[in-house]
Amino acid sequence: MPFLIDDVLSAKRELDKFRLDNLKRGNLAPHHERFIFPFLCGSYFAYRKIDVKRIVAIAHAVSKDNPSYLDVGCGYGDFLEKIRQYLPNAEGMEKSADIFFKLKKYKPDYIKIGDAYNGIEKRYDVIFVGWMEPGVDYRDKIAEKTDVIVTTLDQGGQCGKHCGCEMEEYGFKKVASWLTPSWIDVNTELMNKYYSSMTEGLRRSLHELRGAHNLWYIYSKPNYVESVRKDLLEYDSKISDTATYDHEKILDELGYRVNERLPLGSGMNLWKIEFEN
Ligand SMILES: C[S@@+](CC[C@H](N)C(=O)[O-])C[C@H]1O[C@@H](n2cnc3c(N)ncnc32)[C@H](O)[C@@H]1O
Repeated sequence: MPFLIDDVLSAKRELDKFRLDNLKRGNLAPHHERFIFPFLCGSYFAYRKIDVKRIVAIAHAVSKDNPSYLDVGCGYGDFLEKIRQYLPNAEGMEKSADIFFKLKKYKPDYIKIGDAYNGIEKRYDVIFVGWMEPGVDYRDKIAEKTDVIVTTLDQGGQCGKHCGCEMEEYGFKKVASWLTPSWIDVNTELMNKYYSSMTEGLRRSLHELRGAHNLWYIYSKPNYVESVRKDLLEYDSKISDTATYDHEKILDELGYRVNERLPLGSGMNLWKIEFEN
């Protein structure tokens, strides 16, 4: 369900209240708001620096110097900002001008207002499609303008029938994928732990039921499949060197650690890359 600007405005009012309460408590939870108000204060991706650096490695596999990159549906650009620390030319495309102007939020020049459904202006080395509204399908527009696509599927229910996560029919090959927690699970966990009066035992048993995840898929046209795979493998072999963002402490604390084996017998580990044959 696409959000309405009134929903964002009402979330902003709740955020203001939350900040006031948090201040009264001595600002004990500086990173909680990112996971409670993901659109306004962070991102719907419960990402880590590893995700950012993997994408940067992929972009460098396509173009060694200054790769171009577009984040479609970037919102306020929280994830894009992190990418820009490594790819300074990275740009964003956001359909809603209201999210900036009605909330009096600064819109940086590198975020252009536009609807991907109407087409993308120029070619990019990598296009990131984190979100496609249910019933909307602009995969053809993306496929026209890049050879490498990073896309996500949120099992928490944000993905429509034609999500941007199936690109084979446009001549792309799936190169790799990995799993991160769904923001819905992280949000629930955080609320249960800090903002409810439930017992620790009940909280732990609910923790075992978490089951929604965000899948990240890397697609490439045949010409870049090998270089993308090689650069991703090379980056991942150095993963222990990677510093982390401060907000990752919350993910660790809530039980969403790197390589954590998921409950419910899924046999999958968070952030572990699976390469396709
Ligand atoms: C769920 S939000 C995610 C925002 C951001 N990527 C994040 O992680 O928080 C989806 C965003 O995509 C934008 N969007 C939806 N359809 C779009 C389209 N066709 N073209 C450009 N932006 C679009 C929405 O306005 C919204 O800001």
